[in-house]
Amino acid sequence: MAESMKGLKRSHRCAELSAEDIGKKVTVMGWVAKSRNKGGIVFVDLRDRSGILQIIFEECNIGTEGFEKAAKLKSEFVAAITGTVARRSGAVNPNLKTGEIEIIADSLRILSESLTPPFPVEADSKTREELRLKYRYLDLRRPDLAANIMMRSRVTNITRAFLQSEGFLEIETPILNKSTPEGARDYLVPSRIHPGTFYALPQSPQLFKQLLMCSGFDRYFQIAKCFRDEDLRADRQPEFTQIDMELSFVDVDDVIDVNERFLAKLFKEVLNIDVELPIKRMTWQEAMDRFGSDKPDTRFGMELKDVSEVVRNCGFSVFANSCGQGKSVRGLNVKGQAGMPRKKIDALVSFAKDFGAGGLAYLAITGEGEYKSSFAKFMTPEEISALVNAMEGEVGDLLLFAADKNKVVWDVLGNLRLELAKQLDLIDKDRYNFLWVTEFPLLEYSEEEGRYVAMHHPFTMPMEEDLEFLETEPGRVRAKAYDIVLNGTEIGGGSVRIHQDDIQERMFEAIGFTKEQAYERFGFLLEAFKYGVPPHAGLAYGLDRLVMLMAKEDSIRDVIAFPKVKDASCLMTNAPDVVDDIQLKELCIKVDLPKKDAAESNNAE
Ligand code: AMO
Ligand code: AMP
Repeated sequence: MAESMKGLKRSHRCAELSAEDIGKKVTVMGWVAKSRNKGGIVFVDLRDRSGILQIIFEECNIGTEGFEKAAKLKSEFVAAITGTVARRSGAVNPNLKTGEIEIIADSLRILSESLTPPFPVEADSKTREELRLKYRYLDLRRPDLAANIMMRSRVTNITRAFLQSEGFLEIETPILNKSTPEGARDYLVPSRIHPGTFYALPQSPQLFKQLLMCSGFDRYFQIAKCFRDEDLRADRQPEFTQIDMELSFVDVDDVIDVNERFLAKLFKEVLNIDVELPIKRMTWQEAMDRFGSDKPDTRFGMELKDVSEVVRNCGFSVFANSCGQGKSVRGLNVKGQAGMPRKKIDALVSFAKDFGAGGLAYLAITGEGEYKSSFAKFMTPEEISALVNAMEGEVGDLLLFAADKNKVVWDVLGNLRLELAKQLDLIDKDRYNFLWVTEFPLLEYSEEEGRYVAMHHPFTMPMEEDLEFLETEPGRVRAKAYDIVLNGTEIGGGSVRIHQDDIQERMFEAIGFTKEQAYERFGFLLEAFKYGVPPHAGLAYGLDRLVMLMAKEDSIRDVIAFPKVKDASCLMTNAPDVVDDIQLKELCIKVDLPKKDAAESNNAE
C-alpha cells in the first residue's frame, strides 16, 4: 500500500529545520528511525541524511484516518509528512540539531513499507561488520557512516576547487590498459576481440600522467580509481581511490609547496584545524634511525637508540655479533615500566618474534644499580652501566633491545614502539601530525628476485649527488622521492621523474632490465620521451586513507560506500562469482582450477 508523492514537494531536509522556523508549514520526507505510540499521540523520529526530526501525530490535527495510519508506522518505513514547526512540548533534546522543535503533522503518506531490518539502524552500531556489509545500503543509513561518506564528498569537492584554482586540469585516463607489472599484482580483464590477450586495470595512472606532461598539459589531476591485487589490511583495498597529480617544470619543493597549501585548506575547511606550515621534513634515514619506520607516528616519543658502539665488545655474544656489516643493536626506553609483569614482557617478546626478531632482550632498572634482565648475567657491571647510560635509562625504566640486520631491527622496534604506545595509551588522538619523509633509497634489493627493484617506481629520479654510485653501489643511491605521512599512516607519495634518457637507461640497467625488456613494457613512454619531454614530478594521495584519518576511523572500509572484505569479496553482491560457460567460450577461456579449489567450488554450488 505504498503511496505516491504526487502533488507533494519536500520543503526541507529534516535537520535543516530549527527554532527559527517555528510556525512554518513544511513537508519533510525520510525514514522512520523510531516510533512510539503513547495512546492518543504517536511520536516519530524521522531520519534523512541530514539528521533526525521529531514528528507528532494527534487525531485532533490529522484526523482519524491519518492517525490510524500513523499508528502503523514502523522502523525504516519511508514517510512524507506535512505539518507545522512548533517548539517542543516535551523536554528539549540537546543531542539533536533539531532538539528544540517538533512537527505537528496534519498529513501523512506512507511512501514505502519496510521489513524488520536485520539490525538496528543506529549510530555506534554493535552489529558485527559482516552482517552490516551484507546489508550495506542499510548500514549507510546509520548517521556515523553517512557522515563519513558526506565528509568524503566534501573532501573531493574542496580538492577539485583547490587544484582547479591552482591551474590543474582534471583529465581522465583509461581503465583498460596494457599490463606493466612492477609493484603489486595486476587485475586482468580478458579481451573478446583479441582472444588470449588481456587488459590490466590501472594500479595508478602513473604512465598516463607522465604522457600528459609530454603533451603539454603542465598541471594534471584526477580523482582516480586504482586496482591492486595484493593482500588486504585495514588500510588497503583491492580497489581504492587516489587524488593523483603531476606537474611540469618543477622540482621537489614546488610539489611540496602546493600540497602543503592544499592540506592546510582541506583541514581548515573540513575540520577547522590549522595545519602548521611548513610541514616538518625528515629524511628516510632519520625516520628509520629514530622511529624504525618510513612512516613514523610522531605524536609520541620513545625513539630508537643505536647502541651498537657501546656493546660492540661486550660479553653478550648476541649483541657483540650484531655490530656492523648491515647489522646493529638498538633499543627502546619504555619510561616507568620497570615493573611490567613477566607475562606482559613475554608477550612483547613473542610480538617481536612475529616481526622476525631472533629474540628481544630486556633490562628493567629496578633500583640504583639493580636490574632484572634476560642478559645482564653475560655482561660486566661496567658494560651494563654504559648501556644504561646510552639509553638514558633511569630507575623505573624498562629497556628493550633487538640485535639483527638493520632492516629486522627497525621493523621489530618500530612496530613494538607502536604497540607499546597503544598499550600504554601514549597517543593524543586529537593531534594531527603531518610529516614529509624525503630522500628514500632509489632501489632495494629483492632476495626473492635476486635483483634490485625500484623502491617507488622505475621512473623516479635519483638525487643528482648520488648518480655516480648507480652502477657501483646501487643500494646507497637516494631518490628524489617523498611521502606525506599523517599520524603514522602514509597518506601519499610521489617523486620527481627521470626525463633524461641516459639516466633512464642506467636506471633500467640497475634493476636488471635490458633495453629490449624495458621497451617491451614501457616502450610507449620511452618513445614519447624522444619528442620533447618537460622535467616533471607528481604525487598521489590515498583518498580513502586521508578521509579515514580525518574521520578518526580505524579502517578505510568505514569511508568507502561499498568496500570489500579481507578476501577481496563483496558480501552484498557476492563478487567475484563464477560466470556462464557462454561468457567464457566467447573469451576462449577454459578454467583449470587446482584440485583443492575445484573441490571447494563444487561444494559451494
Ligand atoms: P603509491 O603506490 O605510493 O604511489 O600510492 C599512492 C597512495 O595510494 C594509497 N594506496 C592505497 N590505498 C588503499 N588501498 C591500497 N591498496 C593502496 N595502495 C596505495 C597510499 C599511497 O600513499 N603513481 C604513484 C604516485 C606518484 O609517484 O605520483 C603511486 O601510485 O596512501
Ligand atoms: P639466549 O642466550 O638465547 O637465552 O638469549 C638471552 C636473551 O637474549 C633472551 O632474552 C633472548 O630473548 C635475547 N635475544 C636472543 N636473540 C636476540 C636478538 N637477536 N636480539 C635481541 N635479543 C635477543
